[in-house]
Amino acid sequence: MPVIVVVGAQFGDEAKGKVTDYLAANATFVVRTGGGPNAGHTIEIPEGKVVLHQLPCGVLRYGVTAVCGPGMVLDPTALDEEIRTLQERRMFKGSLVVSERAHAILPTHIAEDAWEEKVRTATHPGAELGTTMRGIGPAYADRYGRWGIRFGELIHPAKLQQRLELLVASKPHLKELVDLPAMQAKLAEVASRLAPYVQPTEPTLWSALARQETVLLEGAQSALLDVDFGTYPYVTSHHPTSAGALVGSGIPPFEVSEVVGVTKAYATRVGAGPFPTEVEGDLGAYLQREGGERGATTGRVRQVGWLDLVLLRYVTKLNGFTSLALTKVDVLGGLDDVPVAVQYVTPDGRTLTDYPPSDAEELAHVTPVYEKLPAWPKFNERLTARLREEGASALPSPLKRFVEYLGRETGVPVEWVSYGPRREETVWLGKSHGGPSAGAVTAWAQ
Ligand code: IMP
Repeated sequence: MPVIVVVGAQFGDEAKGKVTDYLAANATFVVRTGGGPNAGHTIEIPEGKVVLHQLPCGVLRYGVTAVCGPGMVLDPTALDEEIRTLQERRMFKGSLVVSERAHAILPTHIAEDAWEEKVRTATHPGAELGTTMRGIGPAYADRYGRWGIRFGELIHPAKLQQRLELLVASKPHLKELVDLPAMQAKLAEVASRLAPYVQPTEPTLWSALARQETVLLEGAQSALLDVDFGTYPYVTSHHPTSAGALVGSGIPPFEVSEVVGVTKAYATRVGAGPFPTEVEGDLGAYLQREGGERGATTGRVRQVGWLDLVLLRYVTKLNGFTSLALTKVDVLGGLDDVPVAVQYVTPDGRTLTDYPPSDAEELAHVTPVYEKLPAWPKFNERLTARLREEGASALPSPLKRFVEYLGRETGVPVEWVSYGPRREETVWLGKSHGGPSAGAVTAWAQ
């Protein structure tokens, strides 16, 4: 049962990197399937803290091959720097391959990203998306417009020259945005260093699957930022869903054995767009502080809110989650209670429980209805030491009941609970794929 897909179940920043790193211990390949330097996966390993932007977390483990998959858009210069930094810190332990089909983000895309945001604001104040300014949208636009430059072309100077000429011919304004000859020279220089990593990646993965090896598809961004199924237009430009992970890797659907949805015990969002359960004021500031809710890529403070079951039920169906990983439970420790949105009421009085409006403005105007669940105590050294030694059985009872509640409400069991940033701060609750009412979760939560 070799392919495990990890998908963010909210608006990003659910600590997917940490969960993927944990699961990577049993994998031989870890594949990023979409997005690019808009991601920031913070992982704490014994050697220190590391934030990965484009490299899959497999590079942090001996014996693992990290794959930048076909679905990605990669900034070559930033990738080159990320590889070097990790090598200098002696954290580059696995090996790396970059798909020849992955597309290059060029300085022109970054300039266009900034320009497009300005155009949005100038046309309708407040209409900006709050992108990460890494050139993601324009790079995917060129990809689908068939003007893009793939890594297989980037590493061949003559092909790079030809593709650049076509791109510039299609958009004469690019000449005003960047110094094109300097850009080409820099791209060629960086490409010569990246060339040894560039390969066809699908046959390598198919062979691994034929050998029954475990392949982990590492999610970046999250289902609610999916360009079609997220809160359009406040989304990213690819498909951070389980289906997108297959398109972005070239792995067929029948190979997938597990789809792990990663959700925080609360919610965050960075950038613009509707966020029905947002919490402001002192409590919001408290959650931001306790959760360290600042973007790993842009440094922006994330908006915080309560867990939203309407959205979680929706993304569970959309992705076919077989289990959930619940993260950052420690952040809510010591609160009076833990509110969870169980349904929405729309302005015209309709009740929604598992399918949000597709219109972002309508979603912004729903009223969430909350259920308040008993809180668990604040985490302290004694509790974390017990969790390390005894595992899941040491989780505080109200937290066990919260976990069981989530399983019941979503229809899939919570299989992992993470209570801190370090690699070892995760407990496994056991498999219960017969559903939350059968097997381990219920028995364990007594
Ligand atoms: P883009 O992906 O840079 O185009 O940004 C589009 C939207 O997705 C913005 O609201 C970003 O803040 C958001 N976004 C993109 N990547 C991430 C991520 O890794 N975590 C959280 N939000 C993200």
